[in-house]
Amino acid sequence: MDRLKAPARLMIVSDLDHTMVDHHDPENMSILRFNALWEAHYRHDSLLVFSTGRSPTLYKQLRKEKPMLTPDITIMSVGTEITYGNKMVPDDGWVEFLNKKWDRKIVTEETSKFPELTLQSETEQRPHKVSFYVDKDKAQNVTTAISEILGKRGLDVKIIYSGGMDLDILPQGAGKGQALAYLHKKFKTEGKLPTNTLVCGDSGNDAELFSIPDVYGVMVSNAQEELLRWHTENAKNNPKIIHATERCAAGIIQAIGHFKLGPNTSPRDSSDFSNHELENVSPSNVLVKFFLILERWRRAEVENCEMYLASMKADCDSTGILVHPSGAELSLHDAINGLKSHYGDKQGKLFRIWVDQILSTKIGSDTWLVKFKQWELSGEEQQGCVNTAIINIKNSADSAVAVATYMHIHQTWLEGSGAKDQSTWLF
Ligand code: GLC
Ligand code: MG
Repeated sequence: MDRLKAPARLMIVSDLDHTMVDHHDPENMSILRFNALWEAHYRHDSLLVFSTGRSPTLYKQLRKEKPMLTPDITIMSVGTEITYGNKMVPDDGWVEFLNKKWDRKIVTEETSKFPELTLQSETEQRPHKVSFYVDKDKAQNVTTAISEILGKRGLDVKIIYSGGMDLDILPQGAGKGQALAYLHKKFKTEGKLPTNTLVCGDSGNDAELFSIPDVYGVMVSNAQEELLRWHTENAKNNPKIIHATERCAAGIIQAIGHFKLGPNTSPRDSSDFSNHELENVSPSNVLVKFFLILERWRRAEVENCEMYLASMKADCDSTGILVHPSGAELSLHDAINGLKSHYGDKQGKLFRIWVDQILSTKIGSDTWLVKFKQWELSGEEQQGCVNTAIINIKNSADSAVAVATYMHIHQTWLEGSGAKDQSTWLF
């Protein structure tokens, strides 16, 4: 990844369904806690990698449904597709490597002879992945039979059973673990092997992530039987792997703390929005806190008290301008004044704000140019904009605290976001 000039401090490689994303929590609390932690303390020098069984189609669908961050690298279709950055540029070298000893046609031909197998939807059939559903009690026998037949036909395949229902057939060199090993190798040749790597998963297709040398690993508390069994049989005494007591993304945060990989207190867990300690002030954590207060103001989770508006106002320069995504321009102070009448307008509703991909560049002795995405989830609707802001961070007279001031904020709708309800977008 070109974004980082030095080795990543931490590379998190996380599965999505039932690991980063908790499908049993309509409030999405653990992923939102993770997001705030990542943006405030890790984004600037670390790498976020999502590694999912989903095809690009279902991955993009999940991103529209859940409050997810944008990863630096996306590994999809059970480690058969690796893409980079926002544009999701595919890794052609990986595709070439997977073509060895693989013939999709032979796989579909032979597997069609097994009535126990039900083909998954068309979107989940990929160039290097053929996927079925199969009952738990039949999985073992079918797996053995298929690998024997395909072996006889000259193919070297990997068969993975996940979630007690999904059966994936991939080239032997594919899989989430192999994709990670490939990335590690690539980073190493560039002299950018991450200082620490933490892998996170819950099901069968995640197992091989935990066998990559030198990684830390967390099986979230809600991990599936097949992953826990793999662990007992293969990695029981590895102190670098834990079975968290917390579900999903909360388990990831727990692991960061357990292995001492860096800060593990999410800004969402704090209710103290008073002056920031000097050593902690960075454009990132200032921004994360600012939007957290805005969310809590609209959800009526802070008191309806002038103090909050005053503190937000104090964060904004009196001559500062906000360019709203609609194109309207107003002074930052007027924008804050406008929030007054919106206290609690999202009370008791599904409403969340999270910031994503904060990128700050120092452009003066105490001035930063900061670019980030701001997302809002309101009911089922998700919309987002790109913010470009100038932030000033100064030590105050007593030098025990630092003061951060927004000088200017310019917002533009994210692609596909502008057509929705623009009137509720306040800031
Ligand atoms: C995801 C994919 C599916 C795959 C499963 C397990 O659900 O959509 O095709 O079988 O992960 O890897
Ligand atoms: Mg999963």
